[in-house]
Amino acid sequence: MERVAALGGYLPGAKITALGCYVPPGVLTNHDLEKMVETTDQWILERTGIAERHIAPPEMASSDMAVEAAKIALANRGIDAAELDAIIVCTVTPDMLFPATACLVQNRLGAKKAWGFDLVAACSGFIYGMTTAAHLVKAGTHKKVLVIGADTMSRIIDYTDRGTCILFGDGAGAMLVEPTDEADDAAGIGFIGFNNEIDGSGGDYLKQPAGGSRMPATAETVAQRLHYVKQDGQNVFKYAVRKMYENSRDLLERYGYTGKDVKVMIAHQANRRIITAASERLGMTCDQVIINIDRYGNTTAATIPLATRTAIEEGKLKKGDLAIFAAVGAGFTVGVNLWRWAY
Ligand code: COA
Repeated sequence: MERVAALGGYLPGAKITALGCYVPPGVLTNHDLEKMVETTDQWILERTGIAERHIAPPEMASSDMAVEAAKIALANRGIDAAELDAIIVCTVTPDMLFPATACLVQNRLGAKKAWGFDLVAACSGFIYGMTTAAHLVKAGTHKKVLVIGADTMSRIIDYTDRGTCILFGDGAGAMLVEPTDEADDAAGIGFIGFNNEIDGSGGDYLKQPAGGSRMPATAETVAQRLHYVKQDGQNVFKYAVRKMYENSRDLLERYGYTGKDVKVMIAHQANRRIITAASERLGMTCDQVIINIDRYGNTTAATIPLATRTAIEEGKLKKGDLAIFAAVGAGFTVGVNLWRWAY
């Protein structure tokens, strides 16, 4: 374990101590989509692995799902929100541009002493949030950091565009990051390292063009459907496979591991074929890879916690297990974290 000498002592490691997830009850199936655009259940299943996705009702926004996920994580840990030091909300679908969704969540939870912020890294958002939380804790300045990934993708998806509307769903997930104790330190439990990267030259391949300072909302931008997600699916696909593989491989190598040493790969759920191609190149078997895209679709910043919950439910993630989180998203952003699971 990496240790940093501090004034008069050593700084702690960081471990994940709780998880909470929330998806809205409404479900949109492939068969429902067959009635909306020219597509088929079979095409969607074969090309993406998705069968259905959850969709938030009109009155529900990202902060509402974030609060539900956060409450579950706090209840699982048995602590009050007032104990939180910081809240990081990873989202590309904030309730509004400002104030930050983190402020709305902080207020609703009653997290009286927490500061926080929103983090915009699309599908890599949760991993960037976890990397940040781990370092806040390792610095010795924070004891309880809550990272939330929450996205209401259905609000920015064009349900006349069959290339994108089949892919996305709504949901939220939260993880609590805290310092390791001595026993955990000795066992090497917690955050091991990261290999994050951005490549802004890929920005045009996946974006929501209007609604910011470059192209503010006008009747024309609405008429041209520029507030919806635009994507070059094939270029995103190729980049995602390559970088999910390369950044994971390099991170594992840095710590003396290969794909075979990993208990579970918790990959961003964008397309089953992306996850399979990347994990096969890492030498992993399907037993090591968590897939729940069939039930949730791509929930952007929420896929990593949702897939972690699936890993726990399937008995594939237990204390001491080596887990790699990996994602590629709009930007392009790439996020890879290595953790040894703590509970
Ligand atoms: N139903 C039926 N046909 C569809 C379709 C749909 N929902 N969407 C596209 N098609 C058609 C295309 O129009 C094209 O038809 P054509 O050959 O007559 O022109 C054909 O299927 C193949 O299209 P293509 O774009 O090559 O398909 P694909 O195999 O690349 O799959 C995606 C499309 C979007 C599923 C895939 O590119 C993908 O998943 N990309 C990554 C997306 C992603 O991960 N985004 C988020 C990143 S975090």
